[in-house]
Amino acid sequence: MDTPRTPFSTVIRTASHEQHTEAETSTFMSDLLGGKLGVDAYTRYTEQLWFVYRALEDGAEALAADPVAGPFIQPELLRVRELERDLAHLRGADWRAGLTPLPATAAYAARVEECARTWPGGYVAHHYTRYLGDLSGGQIIRGKAELTWGFARKGDGVRFYVFEEIPNPAAFKRGYRELLDGIDAVVTDELERKRIVDECKRAFALNTAVFQELGQEFPLSA
Ligand code: HEM
Repeated sequence: MDTPRTPFSTVIRTASHEQHTEAETSTFMSDLLGGKLGVDAYTRYTEQLWFVYRALEDGAEALAADPVAGPFIQPELLRVRELERDLAHLRGADWRAGLTPLPATAAYAARVEECARTWPGGYVAHHYTRYLGDLSGGQIIRGKAELTWGFARKGDGVRFYVFEEIPNPAAFKRGYRELLDGIDAVVTDELERKRIVDECKRAFALNTAVFQELGQEFPLSA
């Protein structure tokens, strides 16, 4: 008798667990969440997110009908508009002037853009790594940011972390994991499923690289 296959949501979560811990405990994240850095560091981080989410969301529409990535394209997740409101609050009305990605951010956004254009399975890996994270640990980051830098609760500065159209994140995440489990039926080639999991690990590594460069820009004891 065949052993039942481990659901894809479990496979991808387990496979990226170690990288998650690494990202979570990176010096920059620890310092930021430990209230040790100024709002300038938080702003610089938010700027990086804008480049990444532009890549994620610019590529989304073209994937809406794709059998692999299509089910994941859900308008209630979109974050670029929220990031732009946060940046206007953090940097002022001309927030876009002089905005530059760190080299690691440029590399991350380029990889997302490449996946969006050429490989729907890889795009799903990036989608999972960011949006499910935002719905989970992102809520912890929001709380700390409000406390540390005095943003209004769920207001300007932290709107990125507020999913107005997702009133029940736990239920949404359950539904999202069902979509991940649905990959098994659409992507029947085991090697391709493994490539998607590997891309998720790469997505985590790309995030960690951004944290590393942010850490260099905002060292605690210069
Ligand atoms: C200090 C920063 C972070 C904290 C405190 C944090 C915390 C958490 C927590 C508590 C969960 C579990 C939620 C649950 O089981 O429902 C979670 C899940 C997750 N986080 Fe993070 N996280 C952080 C950073 C990150 C980063 C940087 C990424 C990737 C860019 C990320 C991606 C994810 C993903 C994809 C999940 C979903 C795992 C799954 O259930 O499949 N997290 N995070």
